[in-house]
Amino acid sequence: QLVYRIVFPYRAPIVPYLFPWIGSAVTYGSSPYEFFEKNRQKYGDVFAFVMVGRVMTVCLGPRGHDFVFNAKLADVSAEEAYNTLTEPVFGKGVIYDCSNARLMEQKKFAKAALTRDAFRTYVPKIIKEVKDYMANPEKFGQPGQKLEVLEVTPEITTYTASRTLMGDEMRNKFTKRTAQLYSDLDKGFTPLNFVFPNLPLPYYKRRDIAHDEIQGQYLEVIKKRRATDQIGEYNRDLIDAIMNTAVYKDGVAMTDEEIANLCIGILMGGQHTSATTSAWALMHLAQKPEYQELILEEQKRVLGDNELSFDDLQEMPMLNAVIKETLRLHNPLHSIFRKVMRPLHIPGTNYTVPKGHYVMVSPGHTHTHNDWFKEAAKFMPERWLDEEEVKKVTGGNGTATVDYGFGAVTKGASSPFLPFGAGRHRCIGEQFAMMQLGTIMTTFVREIKWTLPEGVTDVPPIDFQSMVTLPKPPAEIVYMRRNEKN
Ligand code: HEM
Repeated sequence: QLVYRIVFPYRAPIVPYLFPWIGSAVTYGSSPYEFFEKNRQKYGDVFAFVMVGRVMTVCLGPRGHDFVFNAKLADVSAEEAYNTLTEPVFGKGVIYDCSNARLMEQKKFAKAALTRDAFRTYVPKIIKEVKDYMANPEKFGQPGQKLEVLEVTPEITTYTASRTLMGDEMRNKFTKRTAQLYSDLDKGFTPLNFVFPNLPLPYYKRRDIAHDEIQGQYLEVIKKRRATDQIGEYNRDLIDAIMNTAVYKDGVAMTDEEIANLCIGILMGGQHTSATTSAWALMHLAQKPEYQELILEEQKRVLGDNELSFDDLQEMPMLNAVIKETLRLHNPLHSIFRKVMRPLHIPGTNYTVPKGHYVMVSPGHTHTHNDWFKEAAKFMPERWLDEEEVKKVTGGNGTATVDYGFGAVTKGASSPFLPFGAGRHRCIGEQFAMMQLGTIMTTFVREIKWTLPEGVTDVPPIDFQSMVTLPKPPAEIVYMRRNEKN
């Protein structure tokens, strides 16, 4: 450390490490928040560490959020940071396998599938998918038996997202073979693939075959729609949304392969994040079943005997508080990073991050820190019903607080609460995710009551080994069906 400080007086202090190249990968990877906090105590909010040949400069806290999420395009690049991982999974020409300007336009193309009008049509479809799933004993087991949520929530997420965003043709193609393809493609989305995006191993080959076959399924639907539909006439789903708009400002049209790849990328963006959020929500509600009853009471008040609609979801503060609290405690993405493209000074310090290094930000660390959230380790949804508390965490950066109908969220990058990121790479799926999670949780609470299995008193610890922060298995619940009148 001393030698490093002498040689590089204008760089952030670096966490000492024993093994070159590997650096602090193991301690960081097994428990990133602990790693961040330990080093924050030693070095402050800004420090660097080595991880598999990359130097990461971590910028913690809301100032770090602002610095990284709002960094200039010429200074940092997400595509340089992520594309080795994402290109083999999503495919060519989309998301990070193109310029940032192209990505910004692609996000706009997708927007027509992510409007309130679209959500109004999605809610009944999601309810039906969830009810069908819960009625299937092969999938959902029997009341009284243990149910592994890590098996249930990825499937429910896939079925609900594909029924709504991909449309009926793609959803109806969902056979065991398709499930296998998605599972193979998913396996290409691991921390290992960041480091070794391509190795001559069967696992990589299966990922590539899966991509090509899934792309082929999309192409079939796209070609059929081109042949039979008036393009621009329909707005059923994400495929329509992109087909109807996919011409860049400079007149270049996306190819059908790129449209298919964009659909794969967008669906993948929502898959793990929403599946893990619903898994954690189920676990917390199993540990504190009183919240199931509060959500149910709220529903009865809002819905009476009616079926849930998208507009009703916005009248349910407790439901939304439970989802926000889950996202606070279990931000699916524990670290977000960018590659530095030209020397980058960190405001408020005398450090400059050199070109070729990375900057890293962790809203999840901020979310779970007592400096920013009272009793931060506790699952307390009611904190989101306390207006003063909410103001503190949503007023960041002087930017207007925007209300999408799910309670206040902010677009300001310096907010302490940023589960969906901020700035140019901010999530486009936030409102879809809130709608999807809200509908799934509403349906669960209406149909069943659940608890942790006998003898289990706490939710599982966090497993940081995958791309998102999952509960460490077993993550089990035991359920009973509510009778019709409940
Ligand atoms: C970007 C979180 C659901 C599509 C992001 C980012 C975060 C995030 C933190 C910013 C990444 C960065 O700055 O590097 C989440 C969470 C979700 C969720 C917590 C659910 C609980 C979804 C859904 C979709 C989606 C449902 C699609 C329908 C995207 C896309 C981007 C993105 C396309 C843009 C990437 C970019 O511009 O670089 N998401 N997301 N996400 N997300 Fe989500």
